[in-house]
Amino acid sequence: MERQDWAAVDDHLARALLPADGVLEQVLEENRAAGLPPIDVSPLQGAFLTLLARITGARRVLEIGTLGGYSTIHLARGLGDGGRLVSLEFEPRHAEVARRNVERAGLTGVVDVRVGAALDTLPVLEREGAGPFDLVFIDADKGGYPQYLQWAVRLSRPGAVLVGDNVVRRGRLVDPAADDPGVRGVRTFLEAVGAHPRLTATALQTVGAKGWDGFAIALVD
Ligand code: SAH
Ligand code: DHB
Ligand code: MG
Repeated sequence: MERQDWAAVDDHLARALLPADGVLEQVLEENRAAGLPPIDVSPLQGAFLTLLARITGARRVLEIGTLGGYSTIHLARGLGDGGRLVSLEFEPRHAEVARRNVERAGLTGVVDVRVGAALDTLPVLEREGAGPFDLVFIDADKGGYPQYLQWAVRLSRPGAVLVGDNVVRRGRLVDPAADDPGVRGVRTFLEAVGAHPRLTATALQTVGAKGWDGFAIALVD
């Protein structure tokens, strides 16, 4: 099976399982028009995030890495009554597109997009007393994952779920020749998750429209 087959299967699954959604399609179109990189989660992965928010009964969600808000909208749609989501984004241009998309999705009162390097905005959230969070989606620069993990645990309640995106990267995780900051960051992140006394974790490899990758999922004890 090749990547084009994975994409064809994703299309089939999405057609079978996901309702047609003009807002989400428009979000991807707005992202394209604004020149954002097409590195959002896939539609099926987005639906997984919505389900995860619902399954966990999340009311406080933290996302690190907003891009155009495609994953943000999926997460926010799964929130319980009175739920809030804070999403951290370094690039002002990405945040601006995301805010417009969030508004289009009718979620402006629910989603708070904060601009800045996450390592600068996370301490601000802590000082504000934001959280504790029920669900954290880590999806910003992969080199920062080890530090985002520490912040995610610190800002979470016991029972919270942490998800790390892109932990496989087409197998680069195990390629000895791959040692850029992103791959190193993901390796350190996974080791830290596995060694963390408060985390019980697994990872699931994925194939589909976005190629070969994977999610790490951890429960905070
Ligand atoms: N979660 C999005 C995709 C995020 S792509 C989705 O699935 O729809 C990663 C994003 O992280 C990019 O928008 C990038 O600008 C942002 N980013 C990179 N470094 C960052 C940092 N230090 N702090 C916060 N965001 C960062
Ligand atoms: C990249 C980042 C992502 O968050 C993703 O889902 C896919 C690719 C990237 O930086 O290439
Ligand atoms: Mg990602």
